[in-house]
Amino acid sequence: MSYAAVYDAWKQDPEAFWMQAAEAISWERKPSKALFDARAPIYEWFSDGLLNTCYNAVDRHVEAGRGDQVAIIHDSPITGTIARITYAELQERVARLAGALRAQGVEKGDRVIIYMPMVPEALEAMLAVTRLGAIHSVVFGGFAARELAVRIDDAAPRAIIAASCGLEPGRVVPYKPLMDEAIAMAAHKPDFCVILQREQAPATLTEGRDLDWHAFQQGAAAAECVAVEGNHPAYILYTSGTTGQPKGVVRHTAGHLVALNWTMKNIYNVEPGEVFWAASDVGWVVGHSYICYGPLTHGNTTIVFEGKPVGTPDAGTFWRVISEHKVRSFFTAPTAFRAVKREDPAGEFVKKYDLSSLGQVYLAGERADPDTILWAETQLKVPVIDHWWQTETGYPIAAIPLGLERLPVRLGSPGVPMPGFDVRVLGEDGSELPPGELGAIAIRTPLPPGCLPTLWNAEARFRSAYLETFPGYYETGDAGYRDEDGYLYIMARTDDVINVAGHRLSTGAMEEVLASHPDVAECAVIGVADKLKGQLPLGLVCLNAGCERAAEEVVAECVALVRERIGPVAAFRKACVVERLPKTRSGKILRATMAAIADGVEYKIPATIDDPAILDEIEAALGALGYPAG
Ligand code: COA
Ligand code: AMP
Repeated sequence: MSYAAVYDAWKQDPEAFWMQAAEAISWERKPSKALFDARAPIYEWFSDGLLNTCYNAVDRHVEAGRGDQVAIIHDSPITGTIARITYAELQERVARLAGALRAQGVEKGDRVIIYMPMVPEALEAMLAVTRLGAIHSVVFGGFAARELAVRIDDAAPRAIIAASCGLEPGRVVPYKPLMDEAIAMAAHKPDFCVILQREQAPATLTEGRDLDWHAFQQGAAAAECVAVEGNHPAYILYTSGTTGQPKGVVRHTAGHLVALNWTMKNIYNVEPGEVFWAASDVGWVVGHSYICYGPLTHGNTTIVFEGKPVGTPDAGTFWRVISEHKVRSFFTAPTAFRAVKREDPAGEFVKKYDLSSLGQVYLAGERADPDTILWAETQLKVPVIDHWWQTETGYPIAAIPLGLERLPVRLGSPGVPMPGFDVRVLGEDGSELPPGELGAIAIRTPLPPGCLPTLWNAEARFRSAYLETFPGYYETGDAGYRDEDGYLYIMARTDDVINVAGHRLSTGAMEEVLASHPDVAECAVIGVADKLKGQLPLGLVCLNAGCERAAEEVVAECVALVRERIGPVAAFRKACVVERLPKTRSGKILRATMAAIADGVEYKIPATIDDPAILDEIEAALGALGYPAG
């Protein structure tokens, strides 16, 4: 069927569309209907069905005779190792881990935080938690202890599962001390922790609290899959919002599996048994959906890659992995391709490998610039598809669904809306804008299965952050437009979120950290354009009256403070001291105007500006830092 026919079929009868998609999932008890709208505008899907996430991702494939198929390939150019785990082995490992967790008291509904690098045990931990009907929350390894502490206090986990360390190129990152520090900072204390010791930096275990990953599983009985209601949370994933308090995106069990499974063939164009590789991290939504649950639920082989696009050992790593493991569909972030392109513009490494298995490449996480897409298409000779989604939705809102139809790509556009998403472009008053006009991108509610039904313990915040600006719609936080043929163009965020190397970060959270510096009176953090990472954060700080310290000293302390409080992933390296910040007469800091100055793009002086002369001072300060960059 064509894309248009499928989209239309969904629009005509969403209930029938999703009930049919649900047939591909294994249920202990089938749901009586798809949409549950009694609490609209809070919607749920398949609530009265009974099923288990881990059963769908693992056990059912073993029962169907696919036990010998490889489920997970761990490819770690950093340690120089490759390991393969079949579905049957995965079932055995996950059932035993779940049994050991249960023996320590983990039950349905308990939260378990997972703080692990790119090792297969991270997926095993996720699957073991969902096997018990418990709820995991994976925290990205590049975050600092304080960020982990905030998540511990919000999720109140019974247990934390961590590795002793992660491995960055040329650097071992000890995770265990970060975990200890986070637990010390947090008001909530987990009952116990499980530590996977890695030989690069074994950790000292805390008596009475920490258990060794292998030792605590010895003799544990295999746990069966616990069937849960369709609207039981499978996981919570924290993502950046406007403030330092991250949003706990909740994912319900049934909609998650139904939707992800649907995307594997229809969007990513893979058949069960084929190899699917998302070069992301389990700490991000892409890792949840397309390293773990999507490919496994659909019976694909997934790759857990512990490396970087360049430097591990070279800019040919991606092509080596694709060729060695016969990857059919590859998913990465534009920034990763930009890093490869910078080192190997002519594609010398590409020529060294047989990439005949590769059918298509998908890019997301940030806007894909046309240059990068064209370079990748020329090098790889397969469709390179930009597609748009968010942690909140868990899978693509817009894409070119190659499994349905090879629609033409339009450079600069992530494609057309996927079934389930009725995407509109709205003006400030909520009225719909015609094609070509820039506005807020919103989705008519209900959002489809698998998207966030609420925020963890924060329904009021869910309503105010997403549902109240445009009644009847979910506000995506992105601005853009659509063309005459319905292709979407995503241009910018409408809030304080920036995208640094495909990582979603909050400038508001960084401002909170800067404001806590004793010499800082006032500050702003803006996202400035960067050729490699898409955007980089840049701080502007005003010092307290009477502070006579050297600006460079305060700036260095600010940089160190953001790294310590948020983590290295924030990539906060540049800041400057200014006398004053430009504001509106009502006192709002003009961040977008400063970002335009830094990027060297034309801007209008806002009519509401209090003192336009301040913009000259900002221009001079940014100029001294090298902005706009040439
Ligand atoms: N654990 C600990 N530290 C981590 C980490 C982790 N899991 N991930 C990143 N970091 C650290 C890095 O070591 C680096 O630290 P440094 O300041 O000491 O150098 C810092 O966080 C920034 O890391 P990163 O964003 O990876 O930048 P980089 O300069 O090391 O590499 C790229 C640049 C473009 C190669 C890299 O950002 C990349 O591969 N991006 C793709 C991102 C991606 O796939 N995103 C998922 C969305 S689909
Ligand atoms: P995350 O929640 O980390 O997936 O980040 C989601 C945000 O990243 C979106 O709201 C967009 O701002 C941005 N984003 C993701 N994919 C794209 C894309 N293909 N084009 C433009 N922006 C994107």
